[in-house]
Amino acid sequence: MIFKEIIKKKRDGFELTENEIREIVKKYVDEEIPDYQMAALLMAIYFQGMTDRETLHLTDAMLKSGKTVNINIDGTIVDKHSTGGIGDKVSFIIAPVLAELGLPAVLLSGRALGFTGGTADKMESTGMKVTLNEKEIEDVVKKFGFSISCQTEKIAPADRKIYALRDATSTVESIPLIVSSILSKKLCVNTHGIVFDVKVGSGAFMKTLEEAEKLAKGLVNVSKLYGKKAGAAITDMNQPLGRSAGNAIEIIESLNALSGDISNDLLEVVTTLAGIIFKITEKGSFEEGKEKAENIILSGKALNRFCEWIEYLGGTTKLSLGKRRALVKSDKEGYITEIDGEALGFLIIEMGGGRKKAGEKIDHSVGLRFFKKTGNYVKKGEVIGEIIYNQGDESVFINRFLSAFKIEENKPESIALIKKIIY
Ligand code: URA
Repeated sequence: MIFKEIIKKKRDGFELTENEIREIVKKYVDEEIPDYQMAALLMAIYFQGMTDRETLHLTDAMLKSGKTVNINIDGTIVDKHSTGGIGDKVSFIIAPVLAELGLPAVLLSGRALGFTGGTADKMESTGMKVTLNEKEIEDVVKKFGFSISCQTEKIAPADRKIYALRDATSTVESIPLIVSSILSKKLCVNTHGIVFDVKVGSGAFMKTLEEAEKLAKGLVNVSKLYGKKAGAAITDMNQPLGRSAGNAIEIIESLNALSGDISNDLLEVVTTLAGIIFKITEKGSFEEGKEKAENIILSGKALNRFCEWIEYLGGTTKLSLGKRRALVKSDKEGYITEIDGEALGFLIIEMGGGRKKAGEKIDHSVGLRFFKKTGNYVKKGEVIGEIIYNQGDESVFINRFLSAFKIEENKPESIALIKKIIY
């Protein structure tokens, strides 16, 4: 293979073959292709795109650069993946609910990426073990009907190397590169069905519905080409999900949610995803799955399963939060028309609850509470939220919280939380 010919082929808009794609990934991982040539190819992909077939081959080659995870358990194994947002604690609620519905759920999750929180970091706030090997995952699924654990270094090493180069060359925002990156880490588990929660809005990586739809279709189509059942919901991230954002604070909210005390938006997202899983795995209709999931949540049936899972892996459900508190009061009267999730995500990082650099230690006890959301009318001086922190400048935090809230005279049109469902 003459690599500059491959770059030219993609640059000129032609489709790469399966063999070419396999060789590119293998040689790049083996350091036979230099970064400057791979960077040129990534930029060509960024501009020319890839067909679903090329994306499938790229996914498969990246996936096969590492280990696969085979869970030996009866039943229809399912997975849920979110593209990431602020206050997104859906995994903690849906996994025990799916287990309750008789669908073993195996989720491999990542750490915080950019301004969004990471499921593995949130789990670590309980002190539980978050990295499990294949045998341990199997043991946990057999005991609790679900497992959430951190992706190990052995999974898709090609993605880590390519992602770092994409980050350095401004080629992250390419749908086929995002699809293959996500799926190389998802399709390596022997699940039967996957539901994707593709977030769209200010607190998500995809800012427009058009981009989110392309990503959702890419994820679903390539998963199906791989032989999995798949579906996706495009859900709104123009404000944080639920009542809080942070690490320990989101586990606390999840415990409350599983006991039936759940915000409407969180309930809607969890039950919609459960409905999709029900339909794609042919357990029943979308409506049936949604209703069953809602009944489980509101009756508190899945709470014990969740608590026992945390404790079995060495964690505690009695979590403490930061020592210092500041109430945030509205600086004007009017309707809340927007809440900038990205700005709030960066505020949490500033408070120590996220990383500025990979590998940094984080303070799990800091977080934000939201008492008012989009569409609510607030008076000047009315409390809209709370900041929980340990150190730093309180007035800076309050100002940043306030500037994430847009308050205007006119009532905003209500925004649909579930934008679209794709099968
Ligand atoms: N998440 C990933 O794992 N990869 C991407 O490229 C983007 C988001």
